[in-house]
Amino acid sequence: MTPRTPIVTIDGPSGSGKGTISRAVAIRLGWHFLDSGALYRLVALAGLKRGLKPDDVEGHARVAASLDVRFEVTPDGGELVLLEGEVVTDEIRSEVAGQGASRVAAWPGVRSALLDRQRAFARPPGLVADGRDMGTVVFPGADLKIFLTATPDERALRRYKQLKDKGSDVSLAALSREITERDLRDSTRTVAPLKPAPDAEVIDSTGLTIEQVVDRVMAAGRMRALWA
Ligand code: DC
Repeated sequence: MTPRTPIVTIDGPSGSGKGTISRAVAIRLGWHFLDSGALYRLVALAGLKRGLKPDDVEGHARVAASLDVRFEVTPDGGELVLLEGEVVTDEIRSEVAGQGASRVAAWPGVRSALLDRQRAFARPPGLVADGRDMGTVVFPGADLKIFLTATPDERALRRYKQLKDKGSDVSLAALSREITERDLRDSTRTVAPLKPAPDAEVIDSTGLTIEQVVDRVMAAGRMRALWA
């Protein structure tokens, strides 16, 4: 019998540091990594490129079902995201793509069209899956579920620094507003709302360094005898 692929899920709101922490944990373990938010961002972006109306639910569900995307690693270890052969690595990180993702992510047709694609990332030796519903819907049987939080102010500040570093001209107040709006939409939608799985370990990353949070996740996995 082939052993089950071990899965760690890391869910949480925008700016909680999920992406950074999940990548770091996946690298430490040498496991695969799923950035599920990127898939929702890609659906929104693909819809935009195809000229779909922002409220075209059916159209976006079709886009999600036929999404032609490749995730590649560059020789220097960076990530490359290709949508229909076109490099969109930076474009999917824009606030427009983020807001669009939050909108299309509320539609059941889009979410169900992405389910199998997400589950296919679970391959040996293991998977670290980052998102909003990884532990509740996509991988309910995951071996370790983390719910990562941080105060809204800290999350807005982190996004602000990230975007500033990339040379974007953003205002902290506008980012704060957007984060609050997105939190509300992500946590109040009827399908797969953002909430911790009942068996999730909640980690508040406010005031903690990346290393400290990664260490906590690693300790939680050791406690469960997932790794040595
Ligand atoms: O993590 P992120 O900012 O890249 O996610 C973009 C949007 O996608 C976010 O507003 C909520 C949505 N999303 C989701 O609904 N479910 C997921 N598993 C991941 C992201």
